[in-house]
Amino acid sequence: MKIVVLNGTEVKGCTYHIKETFLSVLREGNEITEFYFPTALPHFCIGCKTCFMKNENLCPHAKFTSPLWNSILEADLLLFAYPVYALRVPSQLKTLLDHLCVHWMAHRPDKRMFTKHAVILTNSIGAPNTSAQKDVATSLNWLGVSNIKRLGFGLMEGVEWNKLSEKRRNKIEGKTIELAKKYIGIQPARKGIRVRMYFEMCRMIHKAVLKSEQIPSADNRHWIENGWIKQ
Ligand SMILES: Cc1cc2nc3c(=O)[nH]c(=O)nc-3n(C[C@H](O)[C@H](O)[C@H](O)COP(=O)(O)O)c2cc1C
Repeated sequence: MKIVVLNGTEVKGCTYHIKETFLSVLREGNEITEFYFPTALPHFCIGCKTCFMKNENLCPHAKFTSPLWNSILEADLLLFAYPVYALRVPSQLKTLLDHLCVHWMAHRPDKRMFTKHAVILTNSIGAPNTSAQKDVATSLNWLGVSNIKRLGFGLMEGVEWNKLSEKRRNKIEGKTIELAKKYIGIQPARKGIRVRMYFEMCRMIHKAVLKSEQIPSADNRHWIENGWIKQ
């Protein structure tokens, strides 16, 4: 299995430790590629819309986004590991999500996304992790990923791993290992109801828009080439 890790912090702290615990179960026999943000993509989307109108390879940040997207496409499991910042996903990962909008089902989805698994590992000092996890889960759904597991921790006792009590560290590690074990020898995921619904809705929209186009848009050319709509 190929695993791609999208690390939402470069600090080797709690997020790093929890992610390493997860990977410790899966290191043997699997190919792991890691990206650390913001180094992996040190730019915000500038809103030029070149990706939507023309081609994502013409994005001014394609030097960063292309290797990321290609690794994501090749992976069987996407692991997002990040701390909660201001109750949400850290902006260094949000910029990745923004740059991937062109591959949402509303634009040019890739069918390889339909069979992927994803895990979202988060932690906060104590705030609920739900909204921060939803930021990534929503994008993943629109990219076509159905099977998404979320695991979040409130550290409660501090933000330094070594200062957490042994009991808490053991509990966090135990739950992380338990989740990681579910991915040993896992089969490709299946499209869930939500993704099927989004896809069908987008297919109908693209079909309707195509009728009014003299020259099909970049999005619609993609849908035609994939055989999802007919010219
Ligand atoms: C800029 C910043 C914002 C944070 N915002 C929150 C927050 O809103 N709620 C919360 O409970 N923890 C918050 N935290 C704590 C982190 O979610 C995380 O638990 C902590 O940084 C430890 O993880 P790390 O060692 O990987 O950085 C914040 C931390 C930072 C650095």
